Amino acid sequence: MPLRSLISEQQIRERIAEMGAAIDRDYPEGILYLICILKGATIFHADLARAIKRDAFLDFMGISSYGLEKSTSGQVQVTKDLDISIEGAHVLIVEDIVDSGVTLTYLTRVLAQRNPKSLAIAALLDKPDRRLRPVDVKYVGFKIPDEFVVGYGLDYAQRYRNLRDVCVLEDADTPATTSDASIQLT
Ligand code: IMP
Ligand code: MG
Repeated sequence: MPLRSLISEQQIRERIAEMGAAIDRDYPEGILYLICILKGATIFHADLARAIKRDAFLDFMGISSYGLEKSTSGQVQVTKDLDISIEGAHVLIVEDIVDSGVTLTYLTRVLAQRNPKSLAIAALLDKPDRRLRPVDVKYVGFKIPDEFVVGYGLDYAQRYRNLRDVCVLEDADTPATTSDASIQLT
């Protein structure tokens, strides 16, 4: 399937440096956990962590919502939980992209119940046109139009994660939609 570069490796690097500096300014003290949402955020998480100069703890969480499809099934599940307690710590959820907002709505609810000192979201990409649930994203790398993107960690059916640029995947499929009313949050 044809790929078109949307955000270059260089643009990503520069933006993440800015995001890291902002995080350093905003979190002067206390433990900061950077929670990577597997698998799409792994590359962003690794780069963002190194753009942050203050000490930060890294952990990982697995969430299933998409399967092999291009749009969310609306069913969100924790498939791998954190190894550590986040009680009393600053927690930054590190996500690849905010699309419908269903995943992050669920996740913030789950993590807020564990009494962190603060809870915020850093996302490399934001597709605001697709939002079904309002999500407060504190750090956004790039706002992008409603196109399906791959690369820099993002996949289509597990492919293309190791591309250095964020690319639009252009194919003949009808655009993904999450506008059905069957989405249920548990
Ligand atoms: P949401 O629950 O609809 O916000 O879905 C968020 C998740 O869907 C992200 O963590 C991605 O894994 C996936 N996703 C959403 N849009 C795209 C895309 O354009 N390319 C690849 N994955 C996407
Ligand atoms: Mg993801």
